[in-house]
Amino acid sequence: MMEITLTINDQLQTIDAPPMKRLLDVLREDLGLTGAKEGCGEGECGSCSVLMDGELVNSCLVPVLQAEGAHITTIEGLSPEATAPLHPIQQCFLEHGGAQCGICTPGMILATHHLLSKYPRPTMEEIQEGLAGNLCRCTGYMRIFEAVEQAATASAESTP
Ligand code: FES
Ligand code: FES
Repeated sequence: MMEITLTINDQLQTIDAPPMKRLLDVLREDLGLTGAKEGCGEGECGSCSVLMDGELVNSCLVPVLQAEGAHITTIEGLSPEATAPLHPIQQCFLEHGGAQCGICTPGMILATHHLLSKYPRPTMEEIQEGLAGNLCRCTGYMRIFEAVEQAATASAESTP
């Protein structure tokens, strides 16, 4: 076991964990943040996506030791209070039917957040490329892509 300190959703956390324990398991088991989901467990599906120092990572592939000192954002960090309004990206997914079973949804939304931080007005090609690491079995992707387009438009309209 090892003491590891990292910042999760703007809160400093110190945990005791085996250094090679997966960040995904630390989030879900040690911190009760169950938004990140395990799909493949092999870095192929993106359902475990989180932001680590602003970059999108598959938390099933990150030993927690590697996250020492890092700033992690999970889906819970986008809309921290249970009673708070949804994050605008979440709202767009809701309105466009971009979430069905929901397994891929936290990862898709964080991938969208990451995409829009780099390309505030992405083309359809950039949207598809930005979400290429996140697989969805349910939606056929078009509704997700439409939700991302709407989120980009809404964000641009709200920016002075
Ligand atoms: Fe991590 Fe699939 S569970 S990429
Ligand atoms: Fe079910 Fe995407 S909504 S996998």
